[in-house]
Amino acid sequence: MNNKKIYLDNAATSKLDPETRKGMLLCQDLEMMNASSPHKLGVKAAKAIEKARTIIAQKTNAYPKEIIFTSGGTESNNLAIKGIAFANIKKGNHIITSKIEHPSVLEATKWLKKHGFEITYLPVDKEGFVDSIYLERAIKKETILVSVIHGNNEIGTIEPIYEIGSICRKRGVYFHIDACQSFTKTDLDVKKYNLDLVTLNAHKIHGPKGVGALYIREGVRFDPLLHGGGQERGFRSGTYNTEGIVGFGRAVEIADEGDIKQMAKLRDYFIQKVQDSVMGVTLNGPRDNRLCNNINLRFNSVSGQKLTRELSERNIFVSAGSACLSTKLIPSHVLLAIGLKPELAEGGVRFSLSKFTTIKELNLVVENIIEIVQKERGVSCPE
Ligand SMILES: Cc1ncc(COP(=O)(O)O)c(C=O)c1O
Repeated sequence: MNNKKIYLDNAATSKLDPETRKGMLLCQDLEMMNASSPHKLGVKAAKAIEKARTIIAQKTNAYPKEIIFTSGGTESNNLAIKGIAFANIKKGNHIITSKIEHPSVLEATKWLKKHGFEITYLPVDKEGFVDSIYLERAIKKETILVSVIHGNNEIGTIEPIYEIGSICRKRGVYFHIDACQSFTKTDLDVKKYNLDLVTLNAHKIHGPKGVGALYIREGVRFDPLLHGGGQERGFRSGTYNTEGIVGFGRAVEIADEGDIKQMAKLRDYFIQKVQDSVMGVTLNGPRDNRLCNNINLRFNSVSGQKLTRELSERNIFVSAGSACLSTKLIPSHVLLAIGLKPELAEGGVRFSLSKFTTIKELNLVVENIIEIVQKERGVSCPE
């Protein structure tokens, strides 16, 4: 067993950057109180929140007032989809999304279906790309929203948002992207890509958990879900999570382009090294247009669950493509959507890197994979 933990599950969540933690602690040291209070301690908190808002707006080329803070990606996705659905019901009841969305989009649209909305779930190709021509054909006069994940959380596919955004703007349909995995890891410009709504969160970029944001383009017809004190221009009531928001701002501020290049280099190195060392390994998702920190591999004759468990025993933390529900394996909906048969989809393992990942760690992981795969295939299947 490795004495030192090797964490390659950064797509699930990432560790808080010490720099970010410092920014959050400063909130407490400076006694920042309820940002809606008009006294000095409230004003201090409000200023810190506005600073974070400006940093996030600059990173996405938005206006600060278009950034609405929420409790995270799940809330932002629900808010985006239901907020558009209810505000635009007079125009139409049709929403288009894809089959490879995060559950917070799939479940929100499933719920809307029960309430009279019509949902189209677009198929994807074998690398996970949405076909923009197919998407354009799916738009009809009742269509009010297209919602597509930017960088896929399981297989890393970066969707063609420029093409989709152009089509949606031309056809007068709102366009929402879920950018939880891609934010600060690839280009995101709300104007260049004709985006109307963008979901963001902090904990995938070494920020705190329980805080996120929704970009809502000015002029978009939109209804809030949470009614109350009228914070966030009435779009999202509730007392501000000042420390969380400040941490989110700091995490975005220190995100560095150099880290993207480094992660992409390590990603490619790892894929090559595993494929050179172990036979019968296939990359799920594309080679190009892929998130810089995402690797998803399937190993012939070795289940993803088994490999994940064995690695965990050795202090190496990754994620399996399938979920285990009591004794039954539920293959990932994303791997099924790219055309894998359930037995192949069960082989998927996701390794997600961070700016803290080192080549030494990756070499150790490969050594461990070789041992486990050899052991697993040893009896019945040498490959
Ligand atoms: C693509 C994507 N969307 C949404 C979410 C949900 O974000 P949160 O954990 O902040 O609610 C996640 C996190 O797993 C994600 O990966």
